[in-house]
Amino acid sequence: SIMMSQSDVYMDYHGVLLPKRGYDAKSLNYFESFQVQDDDIFVITYPKSGTTWMQEILPLVLSGGDLTPVLTLQSYERVPWLEEGRAAQVVAKMSAPRPFISHMPYHLMPATFFSSKAKVIYVTRNPKDVVVSHFYFHQMASFLHDPGTFEEFTDGFLAGNVMFGKWTDHVKSWKNPDLGNRILYITYEEMIQDLRGIIGRILCFLNRQLSEDALNRVIEQCQFKTMKQNKMSNYSMVAPEIMNGSKSPFLRKGIVGDWKNHFSPELEAKFNAFISEELKGTSITFPWNE
Ligand code: A3P
Repeated sequence: SIMMSQSDVYMDYHGVLLPKRGYDAKSLNYFESFQVQDDDIFVITYPKSGTTWMQEILPLVLSGGDLTPVLTLQSYERVPWLEEGRAAQVVAKMSAPRPFISHMPYHLMPATFFSSKAKVIYVTRNPKDVVVSHFYFHQMASFLHDPGTFEEFTDGFLAGNVMFGKWTDHVKSWKNPDLGNRILYITYEEMIQDLRGIIGRILCFLNRQLSEDALNRVIEQCQFKTMKQNKMSNYSMVAPEIMNGSKSPFLRKGIVGDWKNHFSPELEAKFNAFISEELKGTSITFPWNE
């Protein structure tokens, strides 16, 4: 059953599920005791919301448009997940300012994060497209539970029985006024609509600049079709026993609104009602119906 396979593939970390492959006591201890520096930059995402895209954009913003990092290093070697097993050896080779990814909810961040001035870029995506993207990811990634039907998977997603827990808990946790102007909120939908504008906001947030030439180069490199060809970003180098791109490619469709091809009207109504209830009393809104 799904429950049995879930306990096989995940562990419970303070109430959120983490895949046993990639995360363990050692990596989580490293994460918890990490010494965050003031000039560190965290991209925070709920899985399937634009992580890989930001792992392309941020190194290019920091390199001034030099493509070397994205052509020579795997995405997790240029912007590592801080909570994941490989972080320690990647961090050892990084120089400031260090860009990191984390999928953790706010309250589980390392203690030194809260006392630091490290900046955060929080990327969200319409949860209906997140669940679709995640459903296909579960089909190709052997370290995640068998998703079953789309409807079954969506029920588990809403309940938080997926890696990194409930989507609504994640977005609520990061909508925290304590972060003040340390955090920049962007959406996947805005990145699709106006990547130039979004990179402009990131540059401004990080007090950086790119020449017009460099900006054009970065935008070209970060197009879905370019990234899909980039072996350093498309996960094609990962063994098929772990990620099987012939079942579903990691860089799958890269569009807004694929949920319309997957949700029945009943499922959509249930999904919307659940999410609105969970977000009641918050200021969080999304372009739900695009
Ligand atoms: P789809 O499955 O809908 O195609 P993450 O990196 O957080 O795991 O998210 C993966 C999703 O982001 C996938 O969505 C992937 O195709 C999409 N994505 C990655 N790079 C992108 C890009 N340059 N443009 C548009 N979508 C991109």
